[in-house]
Amino acid sequence: MKKAYRGELIHFIEDPSKVALEDSFEYFEDALLVINNGLVEQVGSAEKLLPTLASTIDVIHYEDGLMMPGFIDTHVHYPQTEMIASYGEQLLEWLENYTFPAEREFSNEAHGKRVAEFFLSQLLEAGTTTALVFGTVHKESVDAFFKEAEAKNLRMICGKVLMDQNCPDYLSDTAESGYSESKALIEKWHNKGRLQYAITPRFAPTCSTEQLNAAGKLLAEYPSVYMHTHLSENVNEIDWVKSLFPDSKNYLDVYDKSKLLSRRSVFAHGVHLHDAECQRLADTESAIAFCPSSNLFLGSGLFNLKQAEQFNVNVGMGSDIGAGTTFSMLSTLNEAYKTQQLRRDKLSPYKSFYLATLGGARALDLEGTIGNFVKGAEADFIVIDTKATPLMERRMQHCKNLIEELFILSMLGDERHIKATHILGERVTFSS
Ligand code: GUN
Ligand code: ZN
Repeated sequence: MKKAYRGELIHFIEDPSKVALEDSFEYFEDALLVINNGLVEQVGSAEKLLPTLASTIDVIHYEDGLMMPGFIDTHVHYPQTEMIASYGEQLLEWLENYTFPAEREFSNEAHGKRVAEFFLSQLLEAGTTTALVFGTVHKESVDAFFKEAEAKNLRMICGKVLMDQNCPDYLSDTAESGYSESKALIEKWHNKGRLQYAITPRFAPTCSTEQLNAAGKLLAEYPSVYMHTHLSENVNEIDWVKSLFPDSKNYLDVYDKSKLLSRRSVFAHGVHLHDAECQRLADTESAIAFCPSSNLFLGSGLFNLKQAEQFNVNVGMGSDIGAGTTFSMLSTLNEAYKTQQLRRDKLSPYKSFYLATLGGARALDLEGTIGNFVKGAEADFIVIDTKATPLMERRMQHCKNLIEELFILSMLGDERHIKATHILGERVTFSS
């Protein structure tokens, strides 16, 4: 079925830090987005396209709204939804005191289902339409998540956590059970509709070399599957990795030795990377999930986006719930800007919205499928309301141009400013 949406629209076709700005995006003050069977058929100015459209086709007009591709969250933990905002610790103590006990509950699939349902509606209400998601060590957590995502027809990537050391017994698997349970989940869910699987070693400290090698073996058996883990987030964590893996050149090398770097590998954080690690990430086309809200909340540090740019490392944005404190990608962009200010670097609003859309799609090796409005892409898109709150409305009255509009949205915006979310061209309705 064909339909069309009309209104202000922006989408990115290139990284604005890599090409001339005007070549990095398309913007229309009054656009028409034509969708056929859930896929983008055409985007262009309404003036040009409206006369070519059959009069029988429904045109939905969004006034006072900016259409853009749905946000992509390249690192988030659904089982941490209910322990978000846990006080007072940095990474390793935070994991011990809050995270592991919360994850214990996910051996029960019914619990997973309740949390997954809430988690997904929070993401959609905040304008995020695709995410790369951690489950827990329990296979039931992944079944619960994928069932909910499937029911909503979402493009989602998830995996069972692998952890066989330095963790509570109640959250521990083994190299062998982790391998065989992951394999069974891949067979069951990978590429089922819009769902995809990620092999998910938690992070080097909780994985034996045997387990990391088993993960590498599985990745070699299923090259279209993702690899999702954490990397160089916190200085105490990095010291711990050094002592646990004395033969590795650096943190990334622990994963590299187990053949875990690929075009579909996503490493969360990378706050304290050496140049050699960036070079290796770029050489293997691996990606970093930049999680500013989490990095500030846990006091982990300030991600060096300029270093990643210099080495041509793929970067996407991550909320990292529940160390991150918001589901909103707009709020996450606000935090991103501030981390770069503290580094004395400028994060342009164009780059911000690129990272939240096409940058995320590239990090997930899904360019052409999601992240912009090229012909044939899946029509997951949002409408941002520039007048949803009195402060935003007032500030917008003084807005002079597009760069300012985008900047205001990313500084003052949050889930209240998401007027509508569409999945495969259909508007999602929320029960709340
Ligand atoms: N490193 C290992 N596990 C985790 C986690 O759950 N959250 C964060 N932020 N870092 C981690
Ligand atoms: Zn994380």
